[in-house]
Amino acid sequence: MLILGGTSAKNIATNLGNRLRQPLVQTSYKRFPDDEFYVRIHDKLAGQDVIIVQTAYPDQKIVELFLIQDAVHDAGAKSITVILPYFGYSRQDKKFEEGEAISARAIAQHISMNADCVITVDPHKDHVLKFFTVPAYSCSAVPTIAQYLKEKNIDFILAPDKGAKERAKEAATLINCEYDYLEKTRIDGFTVKVTPKKLDARGKHVAIIDDIISTGSTMAHSIKELKRQGAKSVSIACTHGLFVGGAKEKLLAADCDEIISTDTIETEFSKVSAAECIAETLLKTVQHIKN
Ligand code: R5P
Repeated sequence: MLILGGTSAKNIATNLGNRLRQPLVQTSYKRFPDDEFYVRIHDKLAGQDVIIVQTAYPDQKIVELFLIQDAVHDAGAKSITVILPYFGYSRQDKKFEEGEAISARAIAQHISMNADCVITVDPHKDHVLKFFTVPAYSCSAVPTIAQYLKEKNIDFILAPDKGAKERAKEAATLINCEYDYLEKTRIDGFTVKVTPKKLDARGKHVAIIDDIISTGSTMAHSIKELKRQGAKSVSIACTHGLFVGGAKEKLLAADCDEIISTDTIETEFSKVSAAECIAETLLKTVQHIKN
C-alpha cells in the first residue's frame, strides 16, 4: 500500500503514513502561469494499491484530485482508494428547487471514474455515499473530538440543531455527560435563527458540536443562547472547519471560549486529526479490496 497526499491533505497523509508505516509517494506539483495545475508522480506505481488523500474543497482541489487520479491510473496502480477527508459539495445532496444540479452526485460520479473505493469523514448526510458508483464508506471523527473535550473537562454537549443530535449524543456518551439540542431554522446561506429553549447549562462548561462550521452563524447564535442561560464557558467543535465569510471574528465576538476542528480542512483550529478514524476504516477496506 502506498499513500499519496494531495496539496489539501498533507497533514492527514503524513499522519496516515506514520500510523500505517507506509511510504508516501514522491510527487511534484506546480501551477502554470495561467493557474492550471500540474502533477507528476516520480515513483513506480504499477501493481500497487494506492491511497490518494485529498480534501475536495475548494474547487481547485477537486481539479487537482482528478489529475492525480488520472496519473495514478495511468501509472498502472492495481487499486485506487480515494480518501476525501472533506467531501465538498455534499450539502447540495438533492434538488431543493426545480432545475438545480445535485452537486454531491456530480462530484461523486466524477471521482468514481478513476477509483475502486472512496472513504470520507463525517459526511453531512450518509446517503451521499450512494452517489459514488464504486464502494464508498464513511468514518466518524466524533470519538477523537470527544476525547479532546473530555480532557478539557467539558460537562455538557449541545447540538445546534436536530440533525446534529445523534453526533452530540455520541460525544456525550463517550464523555459521560448530558446533552441537548437546539431548534435552528436556516433563512439563507449566511443567516440562521435559533429558537430559544431552556437548557440545563447554567454553571457548566459546554461544548457545541456540529459536522461543519462554515460562516459560523449557527455556532455564534448557539453560543449567545448558552451564555445568556449562564454557561460558564462555551467551546465549539466540528469535523470540518471551513471558517468562511468572517467566521472567526463572528465567533470571537459571540464570546466563544475555544474553537476546535479536525484537520480534514487544515486551519489554525485543527487541534485533532481525523487520521485515526480514516486509518481504521482504510485497513478494513483495503482488506476488502484485496479479497
Ligand atoms: C448544516 O446543517 C450543518 O450541519 C452546519 O450546521 C452548517 O453547515 C453550519 O453553517 P454555518 O457555519 O454557515 O452556520
